[in-house]
Order: sequence, then structure tokens, then C-alpha cells
Amino acid sequence: NYYAILMAGGVGSRFWPVSTTEFPKQFHDMLGTGETLIQKTFTRLSQIIPKENILILTNEDYNNIVLEQLPMVKQEQIILEPVMRNTAPCILYASLKIKKQNPDAVMVVAPSDHWIEDEVQFCSNLQHAFDFCERDENLMTLGILPTFANTGYGYIEFDKLDSRPIKKVKQFREKPDYATARKFIQSRNFLWNAGIFVWSAKTVLKAYEEFQPVMFAHFMNGYEALNTPKEAAFIKDNYPLAQNISVDYAILEKAQNVYVLPATFDWNDLGTWGSLYDKLPKDEQENAVVNATVYLENATNNIIRTEGKKLVVIDGLTDYIIVDKDDVLLIYPKNKEQDIKQIVSKLK
Ligand code: GDD
Ligand code: MG
Repeated sequence: NYYAILMAGGVGSRFWPVSTTEFPKQFHDMLGTGETLIQKTFTRLSQIIPKENILILTNEDYNNIVLEQLPMVKQEQIILEPVMRNTAPCILYASLKIKKQNPDAVMVVAPSDHWIEDEVQFCSNLQHAFDFCERDENLMTLGILPTFANTGYGYIEFDKLDSRPIKKVKQFREKPDYATARKFIQSRNFLWNAGIFVWSAKTVLKAYEEFQPVMFAHFMNGYEALNTPKEAAFIKDNYPLAQNISVDYAILEKAQNVYVLPATFDWNDLGTWGSLYDKLPKDEQENAVVNATVYLENATNNIIRTEGKKLVVIDGLTDYIIVDKDDVLLIYPKNKEQDIKQIVSKLK
């Protein structure tokens, strides 16, 4: 009864110029290991979920990339969205399809673009979460011990007195402002939301019905069509009408039956060049070099990436992102990495 929904529709614009709308970061070998992020994620999940029960949620435009990178996946396993509406609509759509196929399904919803190395711990955490959600009507998320007031994450307040490994969530707050995030960190009662959720199809659909009744009714109109030849037409006409909202705001912030399992594996959401830099091997001067040949003098703490082992010569540069990709060369200070997203939209 185990299923997985692999979220692969984001565009990863802070990883420009490697990640682009045409070819986003989940389909790149960001770590230089010979495997793309989605391939790594698929392998990790297939340790405890039957391969044929792993569904890939992505935009129509990426269908061929998915087929090429995951040749074991059948077309029926790729759930295509005609437009981007963030995570709430696509998770609802996929959950309805799964429920129709198997009313007793329990599923993990996982991003396709994160770094998790310890597969043994990951699988053991996941197994634990599956057991918990098979037993009761719970919505579960994996929590990460926070290290700083990052405003790009969801924050989970748990009951400090709860000594059980899986804790009841008191409050879920998506992307608080900086002052609030700082307060949360200082209180030591909060975990970061890893964006990895576990629940049964039944339970999550109940939550949608209660907290997103409009969206729920909208998709239920097409329930008959799901998993039949009529599905594509229904989705083409109706998916674009769904509200653009993430599952964190739509469901997790509102539900009362949310639980958290503090993860026992290291996690990094590879959101920016800097977070990728943290996970890459470094030379003696703390430079991380991917797909490049380098001649460096007075160069420290840089991340350097080219295609095809291009020779890069640098003298006197610290804390920079240097990325050469096709007809773009990016030379950008690491401490302004968040701005790359805006640059990309300005350049358009
Ligand atoms: N299929 C599909 N369709 N996938 C999508 C869509 C969509 O419209 N939008 C986003 N995704 C995918 C992304 O590719 C990513 O793998 C995942 O869903 C989460 O989306 P992000 O856009 O990366 O979310 P976020 O980083 O702002 O926040 C989420 O992740 C944080 C941890 O990395 C939230 O869950 C936060 O609470 C969490 O802390
Ligand atoms: Mg993210």
C-alpha cells in the first residue's frame, strides 16, 4: 500500500544559469556525482516503495526529461500539470488518483531536489512515519533541527514535554518574517519543515475537504474521469482554475492532526549556490570545483562550475559563485545569492 509523490515541478531559479525554466535543477547533476537530483531521489525512495508506485508530478514541458532520466518509469506514473499552481493543487490531484486506485494507500510526498545522504536513516524514518500514518488519521512531516533564522522554510512548534519520537505539532508556520523566525529559533521549540510529508490518501483528502473545500469540490467534479482516458481533458480544462497555493499554507498551517518526526539524517534543500557549496568537497583553499579544471591563486571559498572541464584561471577572488553554462558566465558574490532569482526575471 506504499506510494510516493515526487514533486518535480519547480524551476530552481536561484541556480541560474545551470537551472533554467527549460531544464530545472532537479534534472541536473548538481553534485557532480554522475546522477541527477531526481535520479538520486528516485533510488532513495525505491528502497522501501515499489518502483511502480512512485509517481512523478511535474509540468507537461518536462515529461520527456523525466522519461529519459528515469527509464524504469511508465508514462502512467508521470502526472502532468498543464500550468504551475504550486504544491496544493497537484498534491490533491495525485492523492485523488492514488485513492481511486488503492483506497488504503499511504504515501510520502517528497521534493525531488534535496540532498540526503544517509539512506539507511532516511528509510528507517520513513518506515516509522508510514507505520504511524497507517494506524491513525495523522498528517506527518519530517522535522530538521534548525541552525539559523532562515525565512525560506516552514517552522514547526512541537510539544517539548512530549518525549515520544513522533511529536504532536502545536503550530505550523510557513515562511515567517525574520524577527519571528529568530524568536522561534531562540525558543528551541521549533523544527524546520523538511517538506517531506507522510499520510494516508484518506486522511489527506479529508483535510482538503475541510480546509480547501472549493479546491476539493473542483477536483471531485472530475473524480469519475481520473485514471481513465477522460482524465486528460478534465485536467486541461480544470487544472488552470485551481488556486495557486502551497500545501504548507493550504493544509499544514490549518490542520490540527499534524505530527512531526525529527529526522535522524542530515538534510539540505539545495536551495541556493551557497547551500550546494556546503555539500561539495573542497580543496585546501575551500574552493568547491565541479566539472572544471582550475588554476587558482589567492582564491578561497569559491564555487566554480563549468561544462566539459573548462580551464578556469583565477587570481584574487574570495566568496564568489563562478558558473559557466552555454552562453552565460555568472560571477556573483555568494552573500548575494538570493538576488539571482530577481536577476533572472529582470533579464527576461
Ligand atoms: N509538480 C510540482 N508542481 N512541483 C512543484 C510545484 C508545482 O507547481 N511547485 C513547487 N514544486 C516542487 C519543487 O520542485 C520542490 O521540489 C517542492 O515542490 C517544494 O517547492 P518549493 O518551491 O521548493 O518550496 P519552498 O522551498 O518554498 O518551501 C517548501 O520547502 C521547504 C524546505 O525546503 C515548504 O514545504 C517549506 O515549509 C519547507 O521548509
Ligand atoms: Mg525549496
